Amino acid sequence: MPVSKWAILVLLVPRGPRAIYRHYPLRDAETKGRLGGGDCLLGLNDVSSFLVLYITDLFEVEILIAQSAFHLLYQLYPSCLCAIPCPSAHAVIRKMKAVTKLLIGAVALVAFQWSGRTLDPGSLKGARVLVTGASAGIGERIAYHLAGFGAQVVLTARREKVLQQVVDKCHGLGAQKALYVAADMANHADPERVVKFAVDQLGGLDYLVLNHKGDMPFGMWDGDVEQTRWLMQVNFLSYVQMAKTALPSLEQSKGSIMVVSSLYGKVCAPFLAPYVSTKFALNGFFGTLQHELAMQSSNVSVSVVTLGLIDTDSAMDMVKEVSNVHAWPADEAALHIITSGATRQAESYYPWFWYYCCLFRDWFPYLRDLSIRNIYKH
Ligand SMILES: NC(=O)c1ccc[n+]([C@@H]2O[C@H](COP(=O)([O-])OP(=O)(O)OC[C@H]3O[C@@H](n4cnc5c(N)ncnc54)[C@H](OP(=O)(O)O)[C@@H]3O)[C@@H](O)[C@H]2O)c1
Repeated sequence: MPVSKWAILVLLVPRGPRAIYRHYPLRDAETKGRLGGGDCLLGLNDVSSFLVLYITDLFEVEILIAQSAFHLLYQLYPSCLCAIPCPSAHAVIRKMKAVTKLLIGAVALVAFQWSGRTLDPGSLKGARVLVTGASAGIGERIAYHLAGFGAQVVLTARREKVLQQVVDKCHGLGAQKALYVAADMANHADPERVVKFAVDQLGGLDYLVLNHKGDMPFGMWDGDVEQTRWLMQVNFLSYVQMAKTALPSLEQSKGSIMVVSSLYGKVCAPFLAPYVSTKFALNGFFGTLQHELAMQSSNVSVSVVTLGLIDTDSAMDMVKEVSNVHAWPADEAALHIITSGATRQAESYYPWFWYYCCLFRDWFPYLRDLSIRNIYKH
């Protein structure tokens, strides 16, 4: 099969097999029909024209942009596309300049977006912070970073003995104050009790880091509604309760709430239905809260942090049998969460490229879903 035909297939694959069968046999007729009976589009030959039309369709861009993109590809990879003659490439290069400017503008925008978000560790000296899920994983690392910055921390989770060890280590790392309060977020009274304890002990609150997550089975959903309800309380409703209780103190201190969410609050994935539901709920609730706080000119900022796979023990245990995807360091994820809150970013992503994946996630739904299913061995 010539390279040009492969190229056509590659362009069609994102639309799924039906699109391939529907369009591929019709390409000559369709191309000529859309070109008004001729077989050239601004000097391109038939196959090239078809590709350009396809880029136009697929990305819903102007035909000129699609044509320039195609020529750019041809210039960059002439050998790979050598089966597609492109006689008018030089004439189109002029038009490519506009596209190049657009690209430079896009790169500048991206650079701007990722600049100016550096953490000033001094701003956290003495800061009063409540961290949930602090006995293990990312929450434990958040506690150690904050201790190193000289913050005052209250840590919470269920296991008292482990919390005591984390608190001891925080003292060693330089925390101005380190306390713990054991609590089970499945108990309806505990979220409020924990926030009140932190506000009383620290004399107010500057940061509320909502990070804990309940344990859940990894597998096909077995119809257990009670388990889903329980996880909703632990992973979602307790976050809402804590935010509500902390808001008056945070308003006084011009403080921040950091909400640790997941890529699975943006895209659906198999084997984690209750967990995915709780993360979508978090994104919906705190995204809405961001709007409402801004509309009331509130002093409180809410940072929703989207994480990819992080190398905590619990996450590694869960995915080791079913996935080969790379995990990112918990220490960096923890620092990223602190930075997002301290610099008052409304949303942030770790690792950073998930931002772009989420931006483009609905462009190729067929490919997206196929690749998600393929990540998991089943
Ligand atoms: N690791 C990842 O790959 C990943 C990816 C995306 C997002 N995230 C998010 O990052 C956050 C931290 O994840 P992680 O991997 O660090 O989790 P982890 O290692 O499993 O730690 C969970 C923490 O939550 C506490 N916890 C569990 N059940 C609780 C309950 N009922 N009440 C109060 N505390 C409870 C645990 O302590 P006790 O057992 O002592 O209670 C522990 O401190 C979560 O919100 C998670 O959804 C993680």
